Amino acid sequence: MIIDVLNGPNLNLLGTRQPEVYGTTTLSDIKRLCTDKAEALGVDLRFSQTNHEGALVDQIHAAGQTASGIVINAGAYTHTSVALHDALASVALPVFEVHLSNIHAREPFRHRSYISPVATGLICGFGPIGYVYALDALVEMLRSTS
Ligand code: DQA
Repeated sequence: MIIDVLNGPNLNLLGTRQPEVYGTTTLSDIKRLCTDKAEALGVDLRFSQTNHEGALVDQIHAAGQTASGIVINAGAYTHTSVALHDALASVALPVFEVHLSNIHAREPFRHRSYISPVATGLICGFGPIGYVYALDALVEMLRSTS
């Protein structure tokens, strides 16, 4: 079972980016958390980050060919991207949307997600551990429905 964890723009700057909002955990730290969780769950993990919307679309298409599910933090594209919405709707995979911060407690422009309507579930506001919760929930769901 392969799970793709996809990360969008500016998440490469975690650790130094607005620490009052996102904390000081780096994306490498989050990757390690996810790798450890995947190992404990006995699944294969692919973890990636890009600042480019089209690259995320390509990664979603690739996941559709080879993965069992997607965990995605699309960063700011969450609030703008019909292309990501359509890409996720086009692959027959469960999608768990993750945000470090509680997007609903922030600026109004963050309250709308183009990902949520095509996601199986949404985890936000728990910081880095939210990725681990998402992996747990996704694998549990995949195993209980297979
Ligand atoms: C984010 C929330 C988004 O609104 C923001 O643009 C990000 C990070 C989060 O993880 O909290 O880049 O997705």
